[in-house]
Amino acid sequence: MYNMKPETFNLNSVEGISIRQLEEHYKLYVGYVNKLNEIWSVPYMSNDFTGSNPTYSKMRSLKLGETYALNGVKLHELYFENMTNGNNNPNGVLLDAIENQFSSYENFISYFTNVGLAVRGWVVLCIDPIDNRLHIIGSDLHDQGAVWLSYPILVMDVYEHAYFMDFGTDKAKYMDTFIKNVNWDVLNERLQRYVASMKIMEMKENKRYE
Ligand SMILES: [Fe+2]
Repeated sequence: MYNMKPETFNLNSVEGISIRQLEEHYKLYVGYVNKLNEIWSVPYMSNDFTGSNPTYSKMRSLKLGETYALNGVKLHELYFENMTNGNNNPNGVLLDAIENQFSSYENFISYFTNVGLAVRGWVVLCIDPIDNRLHIIGSDLHDQGAVWLSYPILVMDVYEHAYFMDFGTDKAKYMDTFIKNVNWDVLNERLQRYVASMKIMEMKENKRYE
């Protein structure tokens, strides 16, 4: 039996979003962990999956559920981690990269939150090895719009379940509150991990695009 445990987060450190809203949201994350455990406990027995078909079949249901649950787990862990424990002042290598690429921090936030208004699920600031530049990806579902190998730096949940209890339809106010809680130590650590993994000492454009 696969038995991944949910991570825990210091939800009390978040300001401007009620603990009830956050705890109800956390329950959804735990639900994805539980479903992933259930899915990954299904034995690899091909005889159990006769009649596999891309319209409807047992295997199709399993595979759609797997990516939905797995991305639901990963995205929520990245989200809760990057909105807890303070350290809210924009700084570091990431801020330099943002100002270099988006003209200013204010312009970046405006663009980032506009993506949030335009999608129903997630906004992900990521860095992609195809050009070693920042990109803002929007998606409507956990498993829609995900980009292979792209490394997530800042993850914002814009599903209605993330804010409706506290903010009603005022998504912009929720996003503004979320941005004020972003932990920049977490963001810079993620960027540094990417740089280390790519074995590059400084961010530079891929020669392919020069
Ligand atoms: Fe969520």
